[in-house]
Amino acid sequence: MTVSRRTFVQAMGLALLTPFTVRSLASSSSETYARFNLSGSPSGYDIDQDGLIFDLSVASGDPSQTGVVLWTHINPAAFVPGQTLYLDVALDESFTQPVMSAEIHAEDISADRDYTVNIDLEGYLSPNQRYYYRFKYGTLCSRTGRCHTLPTGGLESIKMAVVTCQDYTTGYYNAYNHLADEDVHCVLHLGDFIYEYAQYEGFEDAIVHPLSLPSGAKVAMDLEDYRHIYREYRKDKNLQRAMERHSFIITWDDHETADNAYWDYDRDTLGVPSHPYQTGDNNPEQLRQLRRDAQQAWIEYVPARVKVDEAASHAFDYLQIYRSFQFGDLVDLYMTDSRTYRTKEPCKDGTAWQNYWCTDYEKKSQTMLGKTQRDWLIDGIVNSNARWKVWGNQTLLAQLAGTALGQPLVFANYDAWDGYQWEREKILSSVKDSNVDNFVVLTGDLHTSIASYLKVNFNKVSNWNYDNLVGIELMTPSISSPNMNDTVERGRDVGAVFTSLLNGGVQVNNPHIKDFVSDIYGYAVIEFNHSELNWTVYNIDKKSDNPSTKKKTYKKFNYEPEGMWLTEK
Ligand SMILES: [Fe+2]
Repeated sequence: MTVSRRTFVQAMGLALLTPFTVRSLASSSSETYARFNLSGSPSGYDIDQDGLIFDLSVASGDPSQTGVVLWTHINPAAFVPGQTLYLDVALDESFTQPVMSAEIHAEDISADRDYTVNIDLEGYLSPNQRYYYRFKYGTLCSRTGRCHTLPTGGLESIKMAVVTCQDYTTGYYNAYNHLADEDVHCVLHLGDFIYEYAQYEGFEDAIVHPLSLPSGAKVAMDLEDYRHIYREYRKDKNLQRAMERHSFIITWDDHETADNAYWDYDRDTLGVPSHPYQTGDNNPEQLRQLRRDAQQAWIEYVPARVKVDEAASHAFDYLQIYRSFQFGDLVDLYMTDSRTYRTKEPCKDGTAWQNYWCTDYEKKSQTMLGKTQRDWLIDGIVNSNARWKVWGNQTLLAQLAGTALGQPLVFANYDAWDGYQWEREKILSSVKDSNVDNFVVLTGDLHTSIASYLKVNFNKVSNWNYDNLVGIELMTPSISSPNMNDTVERGRDVGAVFTSLLNGGVQVNNPHIKDFVSDIYGYAVIEFNHSELNWTVYNIDKKSDNPSTKKKTYKKFNYEPEGMWLTEK
């Protein structure tokens, strides 16, 4: 369906009478989204190719059936108080088929939001339609961005890219240059869009983009540090090109705040085990502020339709980013947030010997999502009518353990779902008990490519037991963050269990894992149709500044849900 010229003219006429305020779905008091009026837009602007005004270019996120969030940033050096920012949206790249033009309220562009502009067009676009957009400010026009609203009704197939973990200090975004050219509907980002580090830990002699934080610290300490990191990442031309050409659906993991972040429920504050605020004064108020700063910077620099309550003091009330997306009758996507509400990683506080005997990972009190989000996720998946139920998850869901006779002896990573086993089983058994088929979990975080079966009980080793199989998990490699191979080669400690598993023991100890490799970088493309899905993992070098470096196919996998059959193609 397309927006006709007549619809456009009618909308313009209406706008002259009724300036409207764009609202978030949360109907909150948030100032997250800039207000605008539909209006005419001046012509004759030169394109700001050098980023004099639009220094971080444009981006779009969270496409819905009738909208999308559009994003840009005004270079503070070019900011003029009271000056109008204009927006054009059209059906074609040369803007000869206009859909809407708008005038953004000048007072909504300010240092308070670090000169970022998020505009929510919910309700003003048509389903399954490609749109082009551009901003105008002063004498210049931004580069043109491209977005695509979600389809409704019957859909034969859909293709998406999946990305995660893009440390900028240790790598080049060659993968993003290739991703920009992919023929995909949108890009799913599973977290670690930024890292809090000025230099990635353990790779200090391999830094290609050193960051100098305003605070002078080694990790982000406040809002200005987080903003600086987002700006530096978003200056990258390859990332800009990918975000200009595709709408992103983004969730966060720990590094948008700090390594292994969780919520310390006892003190009702952020937990960040290796951050100087916790290893130093450990002042709960300071940690609460760090959580808020990380949240605010994320809202400013990530185009997303999320619930924000500016008046709220508690982190849980201030921002809710878990949300769902419908791709016609084919895919329901649930993007979760496993860092805001999660309890502390278990079995870390004792000696190695004490930790070996610790079984806190089984406790019901261990939660990754918090009850409200967990219920939302389970309800969504078991009641979905879509062919595919897809969960955009962060850390590895499948068990990764050293085992004997199928029984786990030691787990490799309690920061992942192995540290939250009651909740994992609750989710997977709910999916199984409701006879949900076509269940797929997409995961990031581990800087590793994994294809795995999911089971209610991972200790039952057979991959043919249909009473136990739930679906599959697919993990995309990192865009640029150091993979395990690089980490181990540098003598960095990844833990004794990981080290032994990496030495060829992953599949032997964990027969549900079909494929595991941690010496590549890149992204994955997933294509769904009504009878199968195809998952292609691309291997793209990040170590040299060469955007056109070869895009190699690492592997292709096919999943046929009737027989629950995951195979390499
Ligand atoms: Fe990461």
